[in-house]
Amino acid sequence: MSDYRASSSPFIESELRNALGNFATGVTVITTLGNNRTKVGVTANSFSSVSLDPAIVLWSLKKTSSSLSAFDECGHFAVHILASNQVDLSNRFASKSPDKFAGVSHVSGFMGIPIIDDCICVFECKTTERISAGDHILFLAEVLSFSNHAKQGIEQGPLLFVQGQYAQSAPVALEP
Ligand SMILES: Cc1cc2nc3c(=O)[nH]c(=O)nc-3n(C[C@H](O)[C@H](O)[C@H](O)COP(=O)(O)O)c2cc1C
Repeated sequence: MSDYRASSSPFIESELRNALGNFATGVTVITTLGNNRTKVGVTANSFSSVSLDPAIVLWSLKKTSSSLSAFDECGHFAVHILASNQVDLSNRFASKSPDKFAGVSHVSGFMGIPIIDDCICVFECKTTERISAGDHILFLAEVLSFSNHAKQGIEQGPLLFVQGQYAQSAPVALEP
């Protein structure tokens, strides 16, 4: 992490962000435990699957995040895939609120990491590698367990993020 330097990118950052924003993603809230068992969580759309066998996922967190030390030190985290009716939850965990968990219904999962209720899927993970990549840290992690509530009657589809805006999915109608 100490090798972070100011960018030498030849691109205008806003133009690069706009171009990359054409790649639609889902939206997650990723939680962990910080010092004194403080509950920590951030909204992240950098989450991605890497490998099925073994089960490996990744996500990246900007180096300026106040949550970085907690994710770095705890070594475990839980990924929550949000449903399309959870925009408020996404905005709450993207904010600088001092207590993002206030009023958010949750239970204690593996290692005491907060598990937020009513999300589509939850993956409980153990960090295996931390990679410094420009202005972000990449976390690679093994999936220890998961629950898929999409199969258990959550009716809303996943929340999407594309071109800087929230969206929801709709199947493409194919020609017969
Ligand atoms: C839809 C969406 C996706 C985001 N994805 C990421 C991400 O993948 N990585 C990241 O570092 N920040 C991401 N952010 C910004 C963080 O959520 C935000 O900076 C952070 O939660 C602020 O809290 P902090 O003080 O803990 O950094 C995203 C924000 C939104 C609204």
